[in-house]
Amino acid sequence: MRRLASVADVELEMKRILSRDPSELFQAAWYLISTGGKRLRPRLLLSFNEVFGGDSERAIRAAASVELLHNFTLIHDDIMDKDETRHGVPTTHVKFGEPIAILAGDVLQSESQHEMARAVEGLPMRRAMAILESHAAITTDIARGQTLDMRSEVMDYREVGLRFYYGMIKLKTAVLFAHACWTGAYLAGASGKPASAARSFGLNLGMAFQMADDILGLVGDPHVTGKPVGSDVRNGKKTLPILIAIKNLSGSDRGSLLEKLKARDPSAVDLIVKGGGIEQTRSFMLKFKTQAESALRSMPNGPALEEVRALLSSAVVREK
Ligand code: IPE
Ligand code: IPE
Ligand code: MG
Ligand code: MG
Repeated sequence: MRRLASVADVELEMKRILSRDPSELFQAAWYLISTGGKRLRPRLLLSFNEVFGGDSERAIRAAASVELLHNFTLIHDDIMDKDETRHGVPTTHVKFGEPIAILAGDVLQSESQHEMARAVEGLPMRRAMAILESHAAITTDIARGQTLDMRSEVMDYREVGLRFYYGMIKLKTAVLFAHACWTGAYLAGASGKPASAARSFGLNLGMAFQMADDILGLVGDPHVTGKPVGSDVRNGKKTLPILIAIKNLSGSDRGSLLEKLKARDPSAVDLIVKGGGIEQTRSFMLKFKTQAESALRSMPNGPALEEVRALLSSAVVREK
């Protein structure tokens, strides 16, 4: 029987890649991965590969590549967001210092590109190039999204609209999910409509995922999320629950919400809840979930597609 790839295989592969010298650099690169993470992107890649009956060795490598890239973005994100905990433990820059954390991120990014090249070795040139091109484009997309995210910190709350928010989260978060899902399917030989349906699924899941993250950033339990709560307000981030609450409130509530946000006071959360920010974000998020589900309609049914559905639910309905 064909062996199914698991996330444990992906973890072993990442560990193998990062067992190098100098130890202070590679320990820092391995640290965040070793402290946990949901491994959603590699799980999605493996499951889509399975849906289309792909080779597990290639999928393990591609999944490791995607997770290495994700962890690179988290290390640099925590430096940019000045966040001191993730996975309930000190962030990489807090533990190892900023210079090594920056280099650890660089190593993860570079190893990610290498690993994707190994994943496509021996495939027909056109297919190999399509995967490498998609992969190479992601870091720039994420950097564009992260730049918009930082630009939003200094923008006035009333200047940021839904279109800006969607554009930003698409680039900083959803494109990587889209790429992971597409790569899993494409590596297995899918092309045309089924491959673009996998990408569209990932994009919609990714949008919903970031919206769930933005809800948890306000009302999540830091003991469960492992991340500081209130950080988005302290950094002046323009997340959807905040934008919605400003729009919905009027009179003195609106004035006092804007004042608290301007003062970067995390107690603003009460007014965000009162203004329907959490509730309405959830309903917007469910629309993306429904769109993701509809992208699966024409895919071969079976346990792997069931797993994809379960991953979608876990990305949207979650506490961490
Ligand atoms: C966090 O991603 C960054 C966002 C895109 C919101 P995850 O929540 O998937 O991170 P880990 O790997 O599970 O910690
Ligand atoms: C997520 O950024 C996007 C990337 C890491 C590229 P956030 O800043 O919203 O995510 P968390 O909440 O720190 O995980
Ligand atoms: Mg952050
Ligand atoms: Mg950030």
